[in-house]
Amino acid sequence: MVKDPFERVAIFGSGLLMTAFFVAIVVGAFGLGIRVPTCVTDVPPFDQPAVVEVAPGEYVVNMVAQMWLFNPREIRIPAGSRVTFNVVSKDVQHGVMIEGTNINLMAIPGVVNRAQARFDRPGEYLIVCHEYCGVGHHAMFAKLIVEPRAAGSQNPNPARTMASALACWIR
Ligand code: CUA
Repeated sequence: MVKDPFERVAIFGSGLLMTAFFVAIVVGAFGLGIRVPTCVTDVPPFDQPAVVEVAPGEYVVNMVAQMWLFNPREIRIPAGSRVTFNVVSKDVQHGVMIEGTNINLMAIPGVVNRAQARFDRPGEYLIVCHEYCGVGHHAMFAKLIVEPRAAGSQNPNPARTMASALACWIR
């Protein structure tokens, strides 16, 4: 049983304070709509990692690194494209290195790291994690495929079209 009047004041006082804090949180969250900051991978564009063509020959790759994969896992762009990589991490620190380029980034939780490169030479470029991130580290990779311009192009090279027509005709 509480005997000391000061003890009573202290108990009621702290109870009142706790109630006031609780009311402030409820009013802030539901009345004023205040939200605490979320993880960067939960908000656009990183909630849907993708390759986006922002202009002809100009691409942006919004890439999420996580144990133990990159998303997107495969990036396809036509040769001659300029690509900006925005890299974030969903969990621990990862690395992003693209072979044959000078792209060498860290994927760090809560931070967007950016680099740009131009891809003129068609082929397959390996993207590897080069920061130890756990038991699956060695298997963490993605691919960037640079496709030759003529393939799938809407404007076929007229000289080449003529040459293949001629080759058909001669046969
Ligand atoms: Cu991710 Cu090593």
